[in-house]
This record gives sequence, C-alpha cells and structure tokens, in this order.
Amino acid sequence: MTISQQIRIVEVGPRDGLQNEALTVPPATRVAFIDALLAAGLATIEIGSFVSPKWVPQMADTDIVLAALPPRPGVSFPVLVPNMQGLAAAQAAGAQEIAVFGAASESFSRRNTNCSIAEGLERFRPVCSAALAAGIRVRGYVSCVLGCPYEGEVPMAKVVEVSAALAAMGCYEISLGDTIGVGTPLKARAMLEAVASAVPMPRLAVHFHDTYGQALANILACLEAGVGVIDAAAGGLGGCPYAKGASGNVATEDLVYMLDGMGVASGVSLAGVLAAARLIGTALGKAPGSRLSRARQG
Ligand code: HMG
Ligand code: MG
Repeated sequence: MTISQQIRIVEVGPRDGLQNEALTVPPATRVAFIDALLAAGLATIEIGSFVSPKWVPQMADTDIVLAALPPRPGVSFPVLVPNMQGLAAAQAAGAQEIAVFGAASESFSRRNTNCSIAEGLERFRPVCSAALAAGIRVRGYVSCVLGCPYEGEVPMAKVVEVSAALAAMGCYEISLGDTIGVGTPLKARAMLEAVASAVPMPRLAVHFHDTYGQALANILACLEAGVGVIDAAAGGLGGCPYAKGASGNVATEDLVYMLDGMGVASGVSLAGVLAAARLIGTALGKAPGSRLSRARQG
C-alpha cells in the first residue's frame, strides 16, 4: 500500500489536551487556542465535551466555547457526548458534529463511563440515531485498542467488534485510540488491518498517545497500511483522567514536521501550530511538550 498523499489531521488538543490538565482553562482562552489552530489550517478541531462536569470539570462550559465559534465552511468542531443528556446539551449549544466513545476493555469502560462495553454501546445507539436524524454527524472512538491500564493485553477481536458496532450505528469514522501509548509499530499496523477487515480503511482514523515515544513510529506504520486520518494535539497535550499513566497525544507540530518531510499534504502550517501550542502553553504555565518546540526555542 502506498502512503496517501493527502492526510486529514483531527486536532484534539482543546478536548483531549485540556481535559487532562490540573488547571481548568477559562472559555475565552480555549477559544483563543481554537482560533490559533484554525489560523494554522486545522479544519477538524474537537473543541470540548458534554460529559458530567463532576467527572471532568475541565470540560465544563463547552457550550460557551461552541457559542463563540461561528460555523465556517469546511470546518467542523466535534464535541464528545457520552449519553442522551450530553446530546441534548450539545444540540442546545448548536453542535453540528459529536463523538461517542467506547472501549475495547471492560475495566476501562467502567472507570471512564461507569458502564460495561455492551451497556456503553446500548447508550450510544439512541444517541447516534437521534443525532443523525437531526443532521448531526457522529464520529466514534474505541479506546484501549493496543492495551489497557487495568487489564494489559486487549483482544484484537474485541477492538474489531466494538469498531464494527459503532460503524453500524452510523459513525462516519472510527478513531482507534492507543489510550495509554503502549503500542509499537507492527502491532499498531496489525490492529489497524484487523479493524479494516470489518470497517473500510477510509472510515478509520488513528489516535496515538505518546507515553513510550512510539506515536510517530506507529503513525508511520499505519500510514503505510493506508490510513488517511490522524488525531493529534498541539503541544503534545492530552491524556485520559481515567487511564492511569497515560501521557499526551502525539504533538500536532511533530506530526506536521514528519508529514512535510515526507511530502504528504495536510494543509496545516507548522509555524501556525507551533504558535497555537505556545499560546496554550503560556496559559498553562508550561512550555509545549513537543520535540519541535524544543528544537525551535527562542
Ligand atoms: P454516571 O455517574 O454513571 O451518570 O456517569 P448518571 O447518568 O448516573 O448521572 C450522574 C450525574 O451526572 C447526574 O447529576 C447527571 O445529571 C450527570 P446529579 O444528579 O448527580 O447532579 N450527568 C451529566 N451531566 C452533564 N452532561 C452529561 C451527563 N450525564 C450525566 N452528559 C457519565 C456516566 C458517562 C456521564 C460519566 O461517566 C462521564 O461523564 N464520563 C466522562 C468521562 C470522560 O469524559 N472521559 C474522557 C474522555 S474519553 C478519552 O479521553 C479517550 C479518547 O481520547 C480516546 C483514547 O485516547 O483512547 C476519546
Ligand atoms: Mg485520547
């Protein structure tokens, strides 16, 4: 398989990134971060979550963030939704795209959403049908596709089963999450290919956390296997509060550096993402965690 010459990056920094920070960032700063990401050319930006604020207080006020972002042609602002209550809130705030999130591990599903894998899928079924009936696009996540913080190895058959179930509910794309960043390239590629036997490759995305420094290598292996959509977070922010030991996502600027070097178009400006990463880094009181930021200090 030859590498696609055009890759879509799904920026998850304002959601996956900020949900895991000790500091709760105010809506105006979240909007400034998103504006900087838009200026960098990112066209899919996950801007927050309509989950319980008792569970993830950092994502409260996602309605305020969404209201400050007028619709733009060719741009989507997905938001995470765990249940019908979240869908109602997302709809009231004017969301045009949501993401539901399942898992391939029972223990992680319980800790993250307080239900089993099967119960989670049953919660998503009415969410997906109501969203689709209202003209809202639905993306699906599967967590723990290469390992679970509580169970270790995760059966590939479960990853395929959950991905296929979400695709059958009408998710236009399934993002395969290495939640705790334990994957290595050959395993990542085998997992992607296994899922692609049930859900066509053009409907798959990969979502790598970089705990063990494997994210870019895993992405390259998946690009070689034909994936065309990659999730990333500016500044390498990210992690899941319910995945012990998880670290940030692959940094968008490091990903863009690699794609630029390979001659693969993403439509994203390296300097622009770096500026966005520095803006949010200043708000969080720390330097961006990316290699690019360290290499281009000053
Ligand atoms: P629960 O406690 O079982 O829910 O939580 P419940 O239905 O029993 O309701 C309990 C309370 O939560 C009630 O409030 C509800 O109103 C409220 P109370 O009466 O106690 O005041 N509630 C809500 N509030 C606002 N919005 C809602 C909502 N739903 C209920 N939508 C629930 C179940 C799913 C809600 C909870 O577990 C939750 O919010 N979990 C979210 C966890 C989360 O956001 N995790 C991080 C995102 S996933 C991730 O990072 C992985 C990913 O990046 C991919 C990867 O890396 O693998 C996507
Ligand atoms: Mg994640």
